[in-house]
Amino acid sequence: DVDKSTNIAWHDGNFTRSERETLLGRKGLTLWFTGLSASGKSTLASALEQHLVSLKIAAYRLDGDNIRFGLNKNLGFSDADRTENIRRIGEVAKLFADSTVIAITSFISPFRADRDSARALHEAAGIPFIEVFADVPIEVAEQRDPKGLYKKAREGLIKDFTGISSPYEAPEKAEIHIRTDLVSVEDGVRKIVAYLEEKGLLQ
Ligand code: PPS
Repeated sequence: DVDKSTNIAWHDGNFTRSERETLLGRKGLTLWFTGLSASGKSTLASALEQHLVSLKIAAYRLDGDNIRFGLNKNLGFSDADRTENIRRIGEVAKLFADSTVIAITSFISPFRADRDSARALHEAAGIPFIEVFADVPIEVAEQRDPKGLYKKAREGLIKDFTGISSPYEAPEKAEIHIRTDLVSVEDGVRKIVAYLEEKGLLQ
């Protein structure tokens, strides 16, 4: 993409991230969910957000459908638009995490390269990025079909539908892998929290 922002200069704040973290007593990070439509990523992300916030840990969920009502309302589902969708969300999640919030993103994010770009953005800034694969066989997702979208895609009423007429590139190195058809929402949340605790990310 052409970089149209010129004549700009970065402005540092009056303290570093680690000073902010010390003052606020929290470290930010991004938990990046990925998975097919109806894979259960939003359900899991919402339950995790509720769990963390009920412990008074600032966590905030950015969700595909919701973000497309506002910030990304000008984007559709072509490959290029999905890439731009994920690029913006990577930047926004990084800002939330930089502010010491636990950013929980829940987007199909079908392309490995786009997820890796979001990861690289975080890693360059020293912010933890944890990929969570909400994994389910497509047959199960299609059977669930809570919004009737798979049916419409099969009928040709929705084009470029993930898993049907648009690719989904499963993660090869997700930090956390959850088979949502085999594991309950509660156990999924427990698994993620256990991972964060083990890595010392929940102090
Ligand atoms: S992406 O691929 O990451 O940019 O997608 P995302 O922003 O997560 O949006 C996915 C939700 O949009 C609805 N929807 C579609 N999904 C996939 N393909 C097509 N063509 C499509 N059209 C609409 C659908 O409700 C997705 O929500 P989830 O929660 O994943 O089912």
